[in-house]
Amino acid sequence: MKKRHELTRDDANQLIELFHTYHETILTEWLNSASISDDDPYRDEITINGGHTIRLIVAYINDPNTQLIEQLTKKIARERVEAEVGIGEFISNINLGRSIIYRVFSRIDISEASQMKYLLVVNDFFDLYMYHSITEYTRVKDSIINNKTRFIQEMHSDRLSILGQVAASFAHEFRNPLTSIKGFIQMIEKEATPETATYFTIIQQELESLEKKITQFLYLSKMKGLDDQSEYFSLDQVVKGMLEFLYPRFLDENINVNHEIESGLEMYGVEEQIKQVLLNILNNAVEELTEIEVDRMVKVRAHQEGDLIHLNISNNGPMIPEHLLEDIFEPFISTKQLGTGLGLSVCKQIVEKHKGTIQVLSTDNETSFSITFPKPSKKGEHHDNNDSLQCK
Ligand SMILES: Nc1ncnc2c1ncn2[C@@H]1O[C@H](COP(=O)(O)OP(=O)(O)O)[C@@H](O)[C@H]1O
Ligand SMILES: [Mg+2]
Repeated sequence: MKKRHELTRDDANQLIELFHTYHETILTEWLNSASISDDDPYRDEITINGGHTIRLIVAYINDPNTQLIEQLTKKIARERVEAEVGIGEFISNINLGRSIIYRVFSRIDISEASQMKYLLVVNDFFDLYMYHSITEYTRVKDSIINNKTRFIQEMHSDRLSILGQVAASFAHEFRNPLTSIKGFIQMIEKEATPETATYFTIIQQELESLEKKITQFLYLSKMKGLDDQSEYFSLDQVVKGMLEFLYPRFLDENINVNHEIESGLEMYGVEEQIKQVLLNILNNAVEELTEIEVDRMVKVRAHQEGDLIHLNISNNGPMIPEHLLEDIFEPFISTKQLGTGLGLSVCKQIVEKHKGTIQVLSTDNETSFSITFPKPSKKGEHHDNNDSLQCK
């Protein structure tokens, strides 16, 4: 902040005297020309603030103490924001105050030299006054905008969580009848004729796929999953098993699978959940690869490095649009007509429950999901994070 122009004591006294004499004139002229709306809730305050400002100039001439300026401008700026006065009008009314003081002083019979000295000090005051007013005005405005943004975000996440809860209770309601249907189907399957036997297989498959979808909903809403007992297992076996399981599908869709999976990748966690992660990502890869005609390829890499197990699953399907990338792990984000948009959000939840990370990279040639898991501490060691692995 620049320094105030110096005044001798005599000059200061004369300037103060002038403000005392012309206090009312300045104030009236300012009120008459300022743009103040009739329904301004602070109409009366404005007159008082005008008076305060003139007294503040006097105080400033005596002692260039900026703290007082800060206090008054804070109050005024807040009132202006509340009265919904735009920043343009606010600044113009402050500048008007400055011009009116110039105008009144130009009519007074004092030497030009004194006039010059006085106006320089008045100018210094208004520079400071303007600086603090605008700083405070923008600060108050910013905080209003921030609060509104936060409110909108909270509303959004509340809605998501309600949606999640609704989905979860539906899913829960569906699971019980599904279990009894499965049971009874198994009972009457024994009586199947050779013609009807294939129907039973289809019914079983469809029921299983329904059950898996419901399980995904439940994972998402943090309700207890089916198999959530943590134990040691071999990740390489699980990955290889999953690739074998999906082999018919890869074959069907003409997809080449290339894998480099290190042996001995021991992990601690819930095997069924890790299978779910693999299945969701590989399913997405297959679904995306149907978009390209030739050279469909899925690559799976798994290895250990230091204290981390790295798992990478990629495909050469279409690139994920940039606007989607940021939200792809959020629930209900899907570009598919019949997609639930839950697959990846379930993956993220499961990976994070296993204290791992999941990331996506997508280019024109390749989309790749990279997962890391911590290498488990030695078998038999005490695990107190058992619970955190369970979907509650
Ligand atoms: N390997 C991938 N390549 C390109 N896009 C993908 C890939 N995996 C997921 N996506 C995109 O992410 C979206 C969300 O996937 P997901 O959560 O599994 O839900 P869904 O499969 O039901 O759409 C998909 O709709 C798709 O647009
Ligand atoms: Mg999916």
